[in-house]
Amino acid sequence: MRPRHKAADSCFTAMRYMSIQDLLVHEFSVAVAAVAGVPVATADAQVRPAGDPKFGDYQCNVAMSLARTLKSKPRDVAQRIKDAVEPQLADIAEPLEIAGPGFINIRLKDGLLAQYLGEIPAPLSEPGAQATGSLAAGGTAQEQWHPGVAWPLTDRVGLSPVEQPQRVVVEYSQPNIAKQMHVGHLRSTIIGDVLARVLAFEGHEVVRQNHIGDWGTQMGAVILGLWYIRARVGRGASLDAVRALQERLRKLSDAPVEARREALQPICSEWSEDLQDQSLDALSGVAVTLEQLELGYVFVQTLVTVAEGTGATVTNRDRTEERLEDIPRKVTRMLQAGDVYERTEWQKARDISLAYCQGIYGPLGVLLTAEDVRGESFYSLGGNNDRRDRLQEVLQGLHEKFGATGGSPREGTGVRGEVRDHEGAVVVYLYNDKGEPLFKNPDGEELGMIVQKSDGAYLYATTDLAAIRFRLKELRFLSGGVGAQRVIYVTDARQKLHFEMFFACARAAGWITDAVRVEHVTFGSVLGGDRRPLKTREGGTVKLRELLDEAEKRALELLQQRAAAAEERRDEKDDTADRSVGEEEQREIARRVGIAAVKYADLRNDRNSDYVFDWDKMLALTGNTAPYMMYAYARIRSIYRKAAERIGSPDVYAPGVTLALGHPAERALALRLARLRETIDAVAADLTPHVLCTYLYDLAADFMRFYESCPVLAAADDASRLSRMRLCDLAARTLRLGLGLLGIEVIERM
Ligand code: ARG
Repeated sequence: MRPRHKAADSCFTAMRYMSIQDLLVHEFSVAVAAVAGVPVATADAQVRPAGDPKFGDYQCNVAMSLARTLKSKPRDVAQRIKDAVEPQLADIAEPLEIAGPGFINIRLKDGLLAQYLGEIPAPLSEPGAQATGSLAAGGTAQEQWHPGVAWPLTDRVGLSPVEQPQRVVVEYSQPNIAKQMHVGHLRSTIIGDVLARVLAFEGHEVVRQNHIGDWGTQMGAVILGLWYIRARVGRGASLDAVRALQERLRKLSDAPVEARREALQPICSEWSEDLQDQSLDALSGVAVTLEQLELGYVFVQTLVTVAEGTGATVTNRDRTEERLEDIPRKVTRMLQAGDVYERTEWQKARDISLAYCQGIYGPLGVLLTAEDVRGESFYSLGGNNDRRDRLQEVLQGLHEKFGATGGSPREGTGVRGEVRDHEGAVVVYLYNDKGEPLFKNPDGEELGMIVQKSDGAYLYATTDLAAIRFRLKELRFLSGGVGAQRVIYVTDARQKLHFEMFFACARAAGWITDAVRVEHVTFGSVLGGDRRPLKTREGGTVKLRELLDEAEKRALELLQQRAAAAEERRDEKDDTADRSVGEEEQREIARRVGIAAVKYADLRNDRNSDYVFDWDKMLALTGNTAPYMMYAYARIRSIYRKAAERIGSPDVYAPGVTLALGHPAERALALRLARLRETIDAVAADLTPHVLCTYLYDLAADFMRFYESCPVLAAADDASRLSRMRLCDLAARTLRLGLGLLGIEVIERM
């Protein structure tokens, strides 16, 4: 519980900063603390939304467990809590009810809901006012926004930023260079983006970090792949031929040495010829796509595998013979030593990859930009032109902290680290206060973390140790603050052990302290219809680019079918289709709907569970899907527009307009709207986007129930029409904000 509430505040002042749930938690905690005789800070009042509206809006469930501690009857304890808290809730809740074994049921006063929602100011500019078509949504004015958040959102629907903003790093997406992003990167990119948006919305200062894989031993093969593919393009060879050759080689990887050597023969001579051919140098400027680069890279990797142990050689520029299998490693070494040619080629491969990623982030509606890229190379090469090798600093630091014999246990953590030499490699081992290894493999053997290989190369863990140190100590935020207070990593669950180990190591070294929060946000896999990891029909990995194109195509089909059906029925009742859209616009709508469908289908699930990728389900117009949510929004806007036309563009936020919540459906909708703050707070605290999806879906359902029983246009009088219009507008604004936080753009008319 965050005590944002000062005693002197009225509940309405308090609610600007805290959710209704937090306010109740606060008041109940004070009462529970008094009854239990414990400090408020340690009292967990167990206030939750009620499972069934029959029992009120919220409930406090603490009496049962507290009764055991106090050795009295649960209902008596409930009565004492009720007596203590009730006077504090006089303005907020109806008299409390004790039910069953000792639940305390809380029902908010209708007047409170009306006043709470009534205090939400009008949007700074009327949504759609400047609209130049069905797509423009929202105003142009910029509401007060936290400095350093490069994501202007025009309508906060009355929610204030938190009073104590934190400096937060969200690391997500993290593709590897020379590889197309595949569906595995989709989840990190989508989930991470929502977390960045939600935390920024809460008022925190968020720095996004795209920790791309742009360094390490595979870079030699990347550079050679670029060179090889350029030579093929330069010689007019077809890339299909390269593809076929790489396929043929791949099948040979387990073949006997003789067969492999023979197969490599023509490739080695071709490679040698290319090396002698000065004219190929002129090709260094030839544009290469990421698909081509990836092909070259994979080709070289296959080549090395096949060449292993065959002794196959190529003739170098200086006429010396060189073993094929050694070349990529040599190139990696030259790159790391700072050789100009290698560095330039690497830079090109990196640029090709980043341009490709940006080409995905844009259409995907993801906030990541080139400025957010701080890849693995940064920690080795030094950024900000400081040329510091932060990996070497990690090694030094580990030696200092842990020493060869092992330092003393780190205060507070009880964990002691040891750095040991293992056949030339540097390995970190961690022990608990009983001297037992902190990490073991399935056979019960102690598990170390390699931070440097015997050839001097650093590893994935070394980079991560350097990165966490950088983020906590050096990273500069736009407000001028230095060092993150919270660091969030979004990767798939398979990397769990890696994160646990380097977090534990950094804690034991004193680099991660108790003052900061460091979290690994994991997620499950995307499955195909066969419940196995999603693959293409041919069994390959699904490329993100193709996936997005398909999403748009399918959404367009869907919209066309719908338009045709509406045309046939001449359905005048369908109030979302109140204007025909041109072809260009329909295409843009399809793009938004398609992308939204893919994102939403991912986000709506508890991120740790696997989910089945199903086009038909995600594009369905009913159920918890993006198209449904987007239609719900467009429908509400249309209802509002029609009512507004009828009474001549009224100001539904005028001081005289009050919310009437007499009908149960009106009240249910109002309660849902009032729970926006606690929903966003929960997503920000637990990093669970699906909670927001569920909320929005429930909101849409509450709205539909409201609309069925409480006509807007045909309301009995102007006062109730205005009240209902205001509810419509609040529902639309809430949906737009919520979907916006999910990275989904709404459409005014569909
Ligand atoms: N680039 C890695 C991959 O594609 C993910 C990096 C995750 N982040 C980290 N700090 N280790 O698998």
